[in-house]
Amino acid sequence: MKQIKIFDTTLRDGEQSANATLTRQEKLQIARQLMKLGVDVIEAGFPISSQGDFEAVREIAKLSSDNDIIITGLSRAMKEDIERCYEAVKYAKKPRIHTFIAASDVHIEYKFKKTRQEVLKMAVDAVGYAKSLLEGKGEVEFSPEDATRADFDYLCTMVRDTINAGADVINIPDTVGYSSPLEFRNLILGLKKNVPELERVILSVHCHNDLGLAVANSLSVVDLIQQIECTVNGIGERSGNASLEEIAASLSTRKDFYNIYTGINLKEIGKTSKLVSRLTGLQVSANKPIVGANAFSHSAGIHQDGISKRRETYEIMKPDDFGWSGSNIVIGARSGSGGIRKKLEELGFSVSDSELEEVVKLVKTLADKKKEIFDEDLIVIAESLMKIPETYKLEYLEVKSGTVKPEAIVRIKFENKIFEQVESGDGPVDSSYNAIQKITSISAKLDDYSLKSISSGTDAQGEVTVKLSANGNSVIGRGVSTDITEASALAYINALNKLVYKEKNSNNHH
Ligand code: KIV
Ligand code: ZN
Repeated sequence: MKQIKIFDTTLRDGEQSANATLTRQEKLQIARQLMKLGVDVIEAGFPISSQGDFEAVREIAKLSSDNDIIITGLSRAMKEDIERCYEAVKYAKKPRIHTFIAASDVHIEYKFKKTRQEVLKMAVDAVGYAKSLLEGKGEVEFSPEDATRADFDYLCTMVRDTINAGADVINIPDTVGYSSPLEFRNLILGLKKNVPELERVILSVHCHNDLGLAVANSLSVVDLIQQIECTVNGIGERSGNASLEEIAASLSTRKDFYNIYTGINLKEIGKTSKLVSRLTGLQVSANKPIVGANAFSHSAGIHQDGISKRRETYEIMKPDDFGWSGSNIVIGARSGSGGIRKKLEELGFSVSDSELEEVVKLVKTLADKKKEIFDEDLIVIAESLMKIPETYKLEYLEVKSGTVKPEAIVRIKFENKIFEQVESGDGPVDSSYNAIQKITSISAKLDDYSLKSISSGTDAQGEVTVKLSANGNSVIGRGVSTDITEASALAYINALNKLVYKEKNSNNHH
């Protein structure tokens, strides 16, 4: 059986689509989980795009300095981009510079206003320059963007010339999700026939999902290539990229057909999907294969009857194999710190003694409010310790709602002083947001608001996710409480703190 390499671009193409809302710590957290998941390559970001992204890629590269995982960053076919990318990825044991330029005429003529010859030279120069920076320690990947709409002969020339310039990996992107499985297979077969130099390099594909075919297109060529680019939950530009979990599940469930395996640890899929969804604020639809809430639930009576007689009647995969163990009750009010530390480690958190003490305290407080504490509750508590500086802190919240005029009294601590504001609004959440805005005087735009329950039961915690933007920065804020108005206020304040933090720490190039 042949192994196919999984190149994960959740932190680049995926995060691009989430409007770069992840903080550096959040990107690191996802990277750690991707390492546990067993991906072969992490595309950690686009280093030239902002100081924050540069630092995130650099930190992720450092994280992998004693690890065989390849860390890459994206760069346009420009010296400045490539240098910035090199400066970030060079700390990895196995660094890779990924550079790209458009290959289709519509991009060459309208986006660049250049000739094919000029663009070809840029591609070759970029690969050669990246190769020279790496001095043999690391690889260069080249992507002819919009390859599926490019002139075939020109595409062949670009691929051949960039291989001769030193590219170690050639990635064929279906940038706008235009292709279809048979056509895409013919393109890859044609390239291999016309460019025998491809035998010397790793051949990869990167498919977008505009027509819902990203996974199908990728799998249509899986026997011809060595690497697939994909993202967790299929997040990415527009309708997203090929879903990592769907590719891994297909290759595993149908190994009788494909005869190809991946290094993915399937049991980590559920956890990875939840983490990415929570941190990016991009929710997974219920009917999404493998990771959607309904992926393994049977509602029709005939199906339930069949399943009760024999699972295989309507189930081709076992939910447990993908880490769908359901909600585990982890701890109660009497749990000791040893058990909590063990559980935290299982969930991927390593905490110092003082942090553990803090977690235990928060668990006890929560256990007074709700009977059972689930994995998800513990994750929220552990994450709350990793958060960015609390410039603004909610001290007090009182709301009036129902058939009376909604009103909120909010007290916020800022620079060691308490500020109070009373405001009304359309409802309790709106009233408290108005009060918070008055106190902080930050006029941010609320782009999104969502509320969900993070564990089961009527005493479950409500998790509110908000997306705020101001001065060109976008952030996701989260708040969790057994009271949904409090969760809403906490989410809003968390987002404001992130905005303040981002403004202080990033100088955006773009
Ligand atoms: O979709 C695309 O073409 C890309 C490239 C940068 C590989 O994301
Ligand atoms: Zn892409």
